[in-house]
Amino acid sequence: MSETSSSTPDYPAKPPVDNSGGGGSSVPLLALRGISKNFGPVQALQRVDLDIPAGQVTALVGDNGAGKSTLIKAIAGIYAPSSGTMMWNGEEVHPHTPRDAAALGIATVYQDLALCDNIDIVGNMFLGFEETSGGALDEIAMELKTVQTLKDLQVSTVKSVRQLVGSLSGGQRQAIAVARAVMRDARLVIMDEPTAALGVTQTANVLNLIKTLSSRGISVLVISHNLNDVFAVADRIAVMYLGNLVSNGPISKYDPSSTVELITTGASERVEPHPLHSFA
Ligand SMILES: Nc1ncnc2c1ncn2[C@@H]1O[C@H](COP(=O)(O)OP(=O)(O)OP(=O)(O)O)[C@@H](O)[C@H]1O
Ligand SMILES: [Mg+2]
Repeated sequence: MSETSSSTPDYPAKPPVDNSGGGGSSVPLLALRGISKNFGPVQALQRVDLDIPAGQVTALVGDNGAGKSTLIKAIAGIYAPSSGTMMWNGEEVHPHTPRDAAALGIATVYQDLALCDNIDIVGNMFLGFEETSGGALDEIAMELKTVQTLKDLQVSTVKSVRQLVGSLSGGQRQAIAVARAVMRDARLVIMDEPTAALGVTQTANVLNLIKTLSSRGISVLVISHNLNDVFAVADRIAVMYLGNLVSNGPISKYDPSSTVELITTGASERVEPHPLHSFA
């Protein structure tokens, strides 16, 4: 079967903010081609092709062990792929560390969030990037920026930005981690199961936050096992099965039952295979 993928992208040009670096709007923000990753004999990723358009929410779904976390770790500079290329705004990039990825504008919010419980919200937002004025920490500037960023993201449940992060709920912690990324100009925010440990209200808050990011032109790649969440926020779905990206396209192509079929068997007669995937 031919692997050429000359078809036009199936996503609309929807950047409310032009974050394509001034290029054509059909250039995806992130394009993965033939990404593979082995852990010894285990082939965790097999020639994965995936486009992440600007300003859209892509849900990455798949059963346990399908390769979802490995894929986002490859994007985030944690794992070097065994082979394949990664294009950012049309240019080949090789992030070797999370810092490299962050410099490109790729931020990852993991389940076990890297926040310091014994520091307040402002301190966490600026950890490692503190602002100074006349040699001293500029607490007022940092506090104002924190308040503004949370306001922009419509995070309204935090009572005070001087609260210790250890006193926050799981959903509020996610919001702080995302706000931190947005403050550093993230263009793609990746979230690994952000609602897995959250209750109903906190889940709704995190889903709203995802929608707010997308409305501000920021792309989101979110791993979720919860199809209600997926169908509530995603513009696109990408399905992984045994290390292969078996389906990828706009949410309108899928319904919950075809998605479950794809997740559990790697195929569905009701969803055409996307030209951009490498399941041979
Ligand atoms: N560091 C590692 N060393 C060896 N094997 C690994 C490593 N990380 C992942 N794997 C293997 O790679 C495969 C994909 O794992 P991965 O964690 O990406 O799955 P996942 O889709 O995120 O699953 P889950 O939904 O359970 O989080 C699995 O077979 C796993 O055992
Ligand atoms: Mg995982």
